[in-house]
Order: sequence, then structure tokens, then C-alpha cells
Amino acid sequence: MATFETPTTLERMVYTSRATQPLGTVDLFNILNRARHNNARLGITGHLLYADGVFTQCIEGTPEAIESLWQSLMKDARHEIIRVQQRSPITERRFAEWSMAFSSYRYLNAFNMPGFFPLDANGQSEKSVLLPMQP
Ligand SMILES: Cc1cc2nc3c(=O)[nH]c(=O)nc-3n(C[C@H](O)[C@H](O)[C@H](O)COP(=O)(O)O)c2cc1C
Repeated sequence: MATFETPTTLERMVYTSRATQPLGTVDLFNILNRARHNNARLGITGHLLYADGVFTQCIEGTPEAIESLWQSLMKDARHEIIRVQQRSPITERRFAEWSMAFSSYRYLNAFNMPGFFPLDANGQSEKSVLLPMQP
């Protein structure tokens, strides 16, 4: 008799928000460090884009993990005007190898963070092009 494994449900959420204050290298480093530590524990992967004071973040994980992070994100005073762009079940992760990849201006990578992808003249990086956005 065949046995069927229950597939693990995965969800992807993409939101945009605006930084409440201009963020520098240290602020971003702190957000990323904390995010990566927590995300690794929660099984969350994703990508954070920061450009022109606007965040676009994609988070992938189980619905429970996404919901738990979402509750924290909504309370975080470092950003505002938080808008969900997309939230849907997925079968595969797009950022499977990153607990939080990060794309921003090259000058904001003074600490040489691993998983940092500099933006080009078009405001894109090799990872930010994978962000699923609404038209
Ligand atoms: C733009 C932005 C993105 C963030 N991304 C994450 C994230 O991916 N994972 C995470 O745990 N916290 C993230 N945070 C921080 C959370 O809002 C919150 O401060 C943190 O989860 C609290 O964790 P702690 O209880 O361990 O201090 C982000 C904050 C901002 C402003």
C-alpha cells in the first residue's frame, strides 16, 4: 500500500513599506542580522530590497511562521505605510538559499555582508529581479 506524505504548506508574502527615518549602514545591518537569526529559526527565507527609503520584502515559509513574523513587522516603528502586495500559497521557494537576501545601494554595504546584492543603475540586482510583484 502506498503511503502519502502530507505536503508541507508554504506561503509567500510580499509587502512594501516606507522607512520612518533615513536608514544608514548600521541600522540596516542590525535589521538584517536580527532577521537572519530569527528567520533561520522559523524556517523563513526571502529577500529585502531597500531603495529610495522604500522597503520591498518577500518572505517565504509556513503560514504559521509567516503570520508570526507579519505580526512583528506590523508593530515595527522603523517602517510605516505597510502594504501587502501579494500573499499566496507556493510550491517552491524563490530564495531557498537565503534566510534574508538583501539588495540595496552599494555604499550601504560597508560591512561586506554576505548575501548583499548591489543595485545597478536601473535599481535592480541579480536577486531583486526575482521579486514577484503585482503589475
Ligand atoms: C523592513 C524590515 C524588515 C524586517 N525583516 C525581518 C525579518 O525578515 N525577520 C525578522 O525576524 N525580523 C525582521 N524585522 C524586524 C521585526 O520587525 C522585529 O523587530 C523582529 O522580528 C523582532 O525580533 P526580536 O523579538 O528577536 O527582537 C524587519 C524589520 C524591518 C523594519
